[in-house]
Amino acid sequence: MSILDQKTPQLGEEATLQVSFPATFVWGAATASYQVEGAVKEDGRGPSIWDWFSATPGKVYQDDTGDVTIDQYHRYSQDIALAKSLDLSAYRFSVSWSRVLPQGTGAVNQAGLDYYDRLVDELLAQGIEPVTTLYHWDLPLALYEKGGWVNRDTAYAYADYAEIMAQRLGDRVKMWQTHNEPWCVAYLGYGIGEHAPGHQDWPVVGTVGHHVLLSHGLAVPRIRAHIQPNAQIGITLNFTPGYAADNQPVTLARVEQARREDRWFTDPLFRGVYPDGLFTDLKTNPPPILPGDMEIISTPTDFLGVNNYTRSVFAASPDGSDAGSIQVPGALYTEMLWEVYPDGLLNLLVWLHEEYAPAALYITENGAAFPDTWNGGDEVHDPLRVAYLRDHIQAVGQAIEQGAPVKGYFVWSLMDNFEWAHGYSKRFGIVYVDYPTQRRIPKDSALWYANHIRRQHELQP
Ligand code: GCO
Repeated sequence: MSILDQKTPQLGEEATLQVSFPATFVWGAATASYQVEGAVKEDGRGPSIWDWFSATPGKVYQDDTGDVTIDQYHRYSQDIALAKSLDLSAYRFSVSWSRVLPQGTGAVNQAGLDYYDRLVDELLAQGIEPVTTLYHWDLPLALYEKGGWVNRDTAYAYADYAEIMAQRLGDRVKMWQTHNEPWCVAYLGYGIGEHAPGHQDWPVVGTVGHHVLLSHGLAVPRIRAHIQPNAQIGITLNFTPGYAADNQPVTLARVEQARREDRWFTDPLFRGVYPDGLFTDLKTNPPPILPGDMEIISTPTDFLGVNNYTRSVFAASPDGSDAGSIQVPGALYTEMLWEVYPDGLLNLLVWLHEEYAPAALYITENGAAFPDTWNGGDEVHDPLRVAYLRDHIQAVGQAIEQGAPVKGYFVWSLMDNFEWAHGYSKRFGIVYVDYPTQRRIPKDSALWYANHIRRQHELQP
């Protein structure tokens, strides 16, 4: 039977989960600084590459920017109360490096640090664990002007910044992610140029990824020195596993290449080596690896964050000369043209467990953009997102049953927000945001997620 026929049965609306989760399992939601904070020129924040990139005409859909976005800088108490009303046990947010260090290095902006103090304290006051990502793509513009991630010095500047954050929040924050998706930083930011800083410079893509990984390894001990003994440090990677639609050699080779790309960061982090053939695949120069770099990069951590939304399916061209990604006939696709394929998450988690044996795995992002509409009232009906969350949470439960040490799930995203080059055209939130009024309206998926969390608590012995 062709893989094209092996689509995961979509649980229907009425379906309930067939799996249960440990009492300690973390149910959260995620956002990121540039996507939700706004206040980009307030209280001493310096510009980031996304401020400059989104202000550059033609880079972002309808020239949308994160200047205001959903104004979480001012509305964080309201948003945390919303998270509390949904019984979330954790909130994953990221820190704007340039809000804390406007030039990326040097003088600290106390008002910037004070914001994250307030955010963390309010989360804790509401019984919600603050989960801090230190870098979610918004590099201080001043560091970009000195070479950005192509410049090895940025890795050292990052480690200094990370320690400043750990010194300030380490007494309260117990879960730290050094980076979000180095693949996007390198591939989208420097390879295809879809993301800031918008370079199309394949020869440096390997170097960018290496310096981001190096910054992670340099930062881990410096964070560890200032956090609680039971606190966790990890990194978040994104994966889009490749599948073959046929058995033609070109297709199998393309899937192998996709699988090598999925190892781009896990092999260095867990084994201290890059996958053979990766840099040839990426058509990039091998990075400048200095003695000791790979040992630094593979410094042990406490968990691996996994961002997964979909899979890729490859098929041979009619003349069999090449293979490319295809749409699966009859499959459901999101607004991002991402196939809904929950088994992809199940298979990914089992693979990561068996391949790298991480101490713990967290789904740090999973969710979907669908064309949500609001009737101006108190309801937003999003049945496709309800089914997406249910099917993928089911897949996580199945992965746990197969031995994967998954300890938590964070839906992307708590609220609709600035979706990078797509601007505000894609809604990932379980809470709808009416941007002109900044009104927040929980979607049916938020209500479902809250009920799911409550059901899990009720199931506990
Ligand atoms: C990512 C980023 C998020 C995106 C989300 C939807 O994984 O790309 O972490 O910032 O908004 O994934 O694309």
